[in-house]
Parts: sequence; C-alpha cells; structure tokens
Amino acid sequence: MEIARPGEVDFTRPHPVRVYDYWLGGKDNYAVDREVADRLAAAFPRMPQAARANRRFLQRAVPRLVRELGIRQFLDIGSGMPTRRNTHEVAQEIDPTARVVYVDNDPVVAAHSRALLAGDPRGATAFVHGDAADPAAVLADPGLRAVLDPDEPVGLMMLAVLPFLPEDVAVRSVRAFLDALPPGSIVTISHPTTDFAPEYGEFAERAARTPGLTYTPRSREQVEAMFAGAELLEPGLVPMLAWRPEQAGPRGSELSIHFLVGMGRRPANPTTAAP
Ligand SMILES: C[S@@+](CC[C@H](N)C(=O)[O-])C[C@H]1O[C@@H](n2cnc3c(N)ncnc32)[C@H](O)[C@@H]1O
Repeated sequence: MEIARPGEVDFTRPHPVRVYDYWLGGKDNYAVDREVADRLAAAFPRMPQAARANRRFLQRAVPRLVRELGIRQFLDIGSGMPTRRNTHEVAQEIDPTARVVYVDNDPVVAAHSRALLAGDPRGATAFVHGDAADPAAVLADPGLRAVLDPDEPVGLMMLAVLPFLPEDVAVRSVRAFLDALPPGSIVTISHPTTDFAPEYGEFAERAARTPGLTYTPRSREQVEAMFAGAELLEPGLVPMLAWRPEQAGPRGSELSIHFLVGMGRRPANPTTAAP
C-alpha cells in the first residue's frame, strides 16, 4: 500500500506520524495506519521499541532541564502527535508556570495539536505550524513570541526530528536556533544511528526508497557535528539507554536501541565558538 507523504492529509492512506502515534499507544490513528504499523513492527520489532524509548528519554530529559539546569521554557521542534506526557505536561508537573512552544511542519500534527496541547493556565503553551529548516520564520512567529521570554534560557528539544533533514540543513538548523536563543539555552537531541544497531540499516534503506519519506540514521561523528558551537553536557553524546540508565526503565532487548542522545549548552558568546 502506498504511504501518504509527510505533510499530506489523507485518511485513506497510512501516514508516518499516525504510525508513530500508534506505536506510542496513542489514539490518533486509523485502521490503515495500524495495519502498516503492525507489518513494520513484525519485520522490525525495534521500531516501536525505539519510538517508546525515545518518548521515555523525553521523560528523563525534561525533568533534568527543569530541576537541575534551571530551564523554565521550551521550544519543542518536530513535536509530533500530542500523546500522553508531552513536554509541557512533564515540565508543568515540576513547575506549573513552565512555558512550551511546539513546532511541527505536518498539517495532520497541526490539526491535532492546537486543541490537545493546552496546559496548566499558570504556564503557557502554543503550537506553531513551521519548518525546522527555517529557524528564522519559526522564531519570528507571533505565537512563539507571545509565549517565550526573550531574556530567559530555552530548552530546545529536537527529538527524532533531525533525521528528516539533509545533513547540512540539520547542522545549520540547530546552530541557527541555538544562536538566536538566550545564553544558557540548551539543545537536547535524539538521533537514530546504525553505529551500534546495524540491522536498523535495512529499515533505513527501505525507508529511503519510500517516496517522500526521508529518515536518515547518522554516525556518531555526524550527530556530534550537530552540537557544533555548544558545550556538550555530561554524559556527552551516548546511546539513549546509557543516558541516566538508572531511570531508563526495562532493559534487555532495548539495550541496542539505535539512538544517540545528548544535551549541549549555548555559550555566552556563540560567535566566538568553534567551528
Ligand atoms: C518521529 S516524530 C518525533 C516526535 C517527537 N519529537 C518525539 O520524539 O516523540 C518526528 C516529527 O517531526 C516532524 N517533522 C519532520 N520534518 C520536520 C520539519 N522539517 N520541520 C518540523 N517538523 C518536522 C514530523 O512531522 C513528526 O511529527
């Protein structure tokens, strides 16, 4: 069955964001999506495991940002379908005044997000229908500007979104967002890799042949390059389950989840930072 292209609203064909939503246990999916999701999961059992592990990483990363690193406002790029325990729910559980702007370029995600992402009235949330490849337009959006304080550091979340961008665009995107945000802002990245899960390469190759769907796993060096100009925070760029492993939940087969994750802080003066 032909898959809908990302960005296309078509309820008769499976759509990548609804397939992902189904793997996460969400309700915003249809029979066509579930059928493809089940077939993909049968061929590549690591895909749904990885989707869930990625969401659990968000549940570990946001509390660290709020509790330990003093972050009170977030910009979540490529936020995906609103599922349970989105960034604002996790952050507002710790600080009800936390503010979150979600950004996604997919109209299906946009349609679901606007109503479902409302949070604690003491904080604030907004959804911006925008493109990670165009940071200037996203940052100029009035919805974003109404929610984010321009003088306070921001938690820039880029989870499982950079593999959708060409490598040079991904590197430029992270850099442009981070340079435009206040000093002390911190980018959190999760990115698939074939470095330590070679069987995932087969999935990636198949995905690469699907028209309209780009989802590129990258090497450690390539993902590291996305932190250029930022100070990598401990424990550095590591396999997802090695990031605060004591909080990572069930292990076993998930030990080889094919994601690298890390956090990088924007220095006070990014123009003098390398490279
Ligand atoms: C795999 S989902 C990840 C969702 C969420 N960040 C998470 O980690 O669970 C990727 C999301 O990125 C969005 N996306 C892909 N390319 C994008 C782009 N150029 N700009 C903004 N969002 C994009 C997709 O629409 C999708 O919702």
